[in-house]
Amino acid sequence: MPSHRTRAVLLFVVVAAFSVLIFGGAQISRYKPPIPGRVVDAQGQVIFTAEDVVAGQKYYLSRGGQHVGSILGHGAYLAPDWTADSLHRTALVTAGLAHGLDAGAARAFTQADLEALDAGERGRVQALVKDELHRNRYDAATDTLTLSRGQATAFPTLVAYYDQLFQKGSDAMSIPPGFVDSPERARQVTAFYFWTAWSGMTDRPGETFTYTANWPFDPLAGNGPLPSALIWSIASVLLLIAGTGLAIYFYMRNGEDEHRPELAPLAEPNPTPSQRATLPFFLIALVLFVLQAALGSLTGHYAVEGNKFFGMDLGGILPYAASRTWHLQLAVFWIATCWLATGLFIGPAVGGVEPKAQKALVLTLLGALVVVVVGSLVGTWAGIQGKLSGENGWLIGHQGYEYIELGRVWQVALIAGMLLWLVLVYRAIKPALQKEQDKGGLTHLLLYASVSIPLFYSVGLFYTPGTHIAMADYWRWWVVHLWVENFFEVFATVALAFVLTQIGAVKSSSALKATYFSILLYLGSGIIGTFHHLYFTGSPLMITALGATFSALEVVPLTLLGFEVYQNLKVAKLAGNQSPYRWPLYFFTAVAFWNMIGAGVFGFLINPPIVLYYAQGLNTTPIHSHGALFGVYGFLAIALMLFSMRHTVRKAAWDDRLLGFAFWALNLGLAGMIVLSLLPAGFYQFAIAIKHGIWYARSPEVTGSSFIHTATWLRVFPDVVFDAGALALVAFVAKAIFGDLALRRKERDDSSTRNGSLKRAA
Ligand code: HEM
Ligand SMILES: [Fe+2]
Repeated sequence: MPSHRTRAVLLFVVVAAFSVLIFGGAQISRYKPPIPGRVVDAQGQVIFTAEDVVAGQKYYLSRGGQHVGSILGHGAYLAPDWTADSLHRTALVTAGLAHGLDAGAARAFTQADLEALDAGERGRVQALVKDELHRNRYDAATDTLTLSRGQATAFPTLVAYYDQLFQKGSDAMSIPPGFVDSPERARQVTAFYFWTAWSGMTDRPGETFTYTANWPFDPLAGNGPLPSALIWSIASVLLLIAGTGLAIYFYMRNGEDEHRPELAPLAEPNPTPSQRATLPFFLIALVLFVLQAALGSLTGHYAVEGNKFFGMDLGGILPYAASRTWHLQLAVFWIATCWLATGLFIGPAVGGVEPKAQKALVLTLLGALVVVVVGSLVGTWAGIQGKLSGENGWLIGHQGYEYIELGRVWQVALIAGMLLWLVLVYRAIKPALQKEQDKGGLTHLLLYASVSIPLFYSVGLFYTPGTHIAMADYWRWWVVHLWVENFFEVFATVALAFVLTQIGAVKSSSALKATYFSILLYLGSGIIGTFHHLYFTGSPLMITALGATFSALEVVPLTLLGFEVYQNLKVAKLAGNQSPYRWPLYFFTAVAFWNMIGAGVFGFLINPPIVLYYAQGLNTTPIHSHGALFGVYGFLAIALMLFSMRHTVRKAAWDDRLLGFAFWALNLGLAGMIVLSLLPAGFYQFAIAIKHGIWYARSPEVTGSSFIHTATWLRVFPDVVFDAGALALVAFVAKAIFGDLALRRKERDDSSTRNGSLKRAA
């Protein structure tokens, strides 16, 4: 049992880490790039205002925002990063002027023109461009930004360019026509893009680097990596090596668990009514999973055909931004649904009683979830189609930020649903909580972990579409990062320890000790690690230092998962082929494996600031996000579902063959997608970004290159394998549920016939 000292240390670490996270937020708020009240040219004529920037931001977000290209490197990878794009276009016009051209000719000056200059002239022009763009002309006293000659000349060109692009649409960027509906909208959206570019090209007052720590990389604009990016990257690698060594030492010192697992035999399940009511959750979740996987293939396919699907004009009805939004939202929904249902299943199992009216309440929750899922999918779609671009459209439409796309009303409803879920779980486990003397025991930990999930999702209410983007991103990553890298990991560890002790695979005392050790490592590193998403979003440099070092430490517990994979396989082998827990155990093993590879290895791939400086917003990110989000939490959702269903449906309805096929198809499909398609595409683009700049790596020349197209086509094979696995899993769940129903009906009929004949005999 963990000592009081262990708990005190854990509590201290959590409080200290949150203090640093909040302090960092205060610093970001203080040092964020200003949005100038007025932006004027040298003659004092107003070009645009702060209201224009905010209006542009709100409109961009309402139409799907981060699913239409990206801003400051956050968002979708197919269309350009608008920050890098408008920055480079501004730099080219400035270069034309520096070369001695008049305004008209400078506006038509291209990258090819620049490269055609002789080396001496090119060097001179680049030096002038850097000097002009990096100089800060914002006057805080009057809240006025005076544009340089190059910037003022470029702005109208940018407005005209984006107006044309967004009115006509672009197949290469997978943007359907009509993304902006008027020249005024185009001007506002351009003001927003241009302002983010301004923060990326302008030095902070008194410094020699920009508000975004020189992101995006663009040699013409004089943007290159800072020494601190390299130094903290090296420090992070050293910390990771040292941390791993230390963690192995402590792990070994605590001694290997010599407990020989004795899996509890599985009697024919006898679920309570509310436990049986979790079955439709699982069926719905898996249907959503299949839909999510199919939308992933479609989103990938748009990289080849723009707005078409094998010649069909699908982009008009379901454009890239909508299919990608749904792909992400559905992932959150189906995974969450499986977890919620598992919590509802575990409740009565642990508490030993069925609370009053639990089944009716469980079904009410299911109804509420369906309303949120359907409402938010329709709302985000309507937002993208431009039907909800008014001031309040975001309330039911699209919020524009990745992973929290759903309209605010649906978001609040989801939080309410999670709270109802908490109450339902609490009612059920209350007897067990009361029995557990130790407030830090496994059942209590399960409760705390369950509370943390809605708690941190609620932070997503702290910003609106009009919030300064540096702060919106700060709060958004509280949700996304603190969920996936902290509280989900904690929930996964606790739930796994819980389930494994329930079935007798590990001893509860050693499981609790290991759980405390893991929680300490996850929270000690991961809370401050949030800053690894904020290196270049307008934060001060200390954020890079803290983010790089602490998030490197996040990988330490993930490397230890090698031990867990080994242990789980041992347990599965000992249990034998006939074990009722064979496939649930394999799925838990997959969770540990992908946590090590998808989260650990591929997370660290893009984690050092010097790497992310070039790779922010490239195809290197989906290598990690697929390996981690599906690899860890998708497989966890499936494993938890199998554990619950194993104790809910009749043995005869359980089909191990379908499960085995699903297991291998999903794992091989995911691995194939990463190795054959995402890794080559990511590294190809990464190399181009290092050589020429982010703007070029994200331009249609590169995203539409034959290399990327081939890599995208290669995805077809692993995608088909993966989809076959997903279908097999649905088939398994459907067979288990309907098979179970049929068996029950038969038993009931048999017993009533028996009763009937008994009566007749009497
Ligand atoms: C199971 C755990 C994890 C999950 C589910 C996860 C998931 C994700 C997702 C979904 C993204 C966003 C991709 C996008 O912007 O489209 C992301 C980004 C990122 N993750 Fe993770 N991650 C996990 C663990 C880690 C770890 C351990 C590290 C490194 C220490 C890490 C480092 C990063 C970095 C650096 C980014 C890119 C940030 C950016 O582009 O702004 N992640 N992760
Ligand atoms: Fe993160």
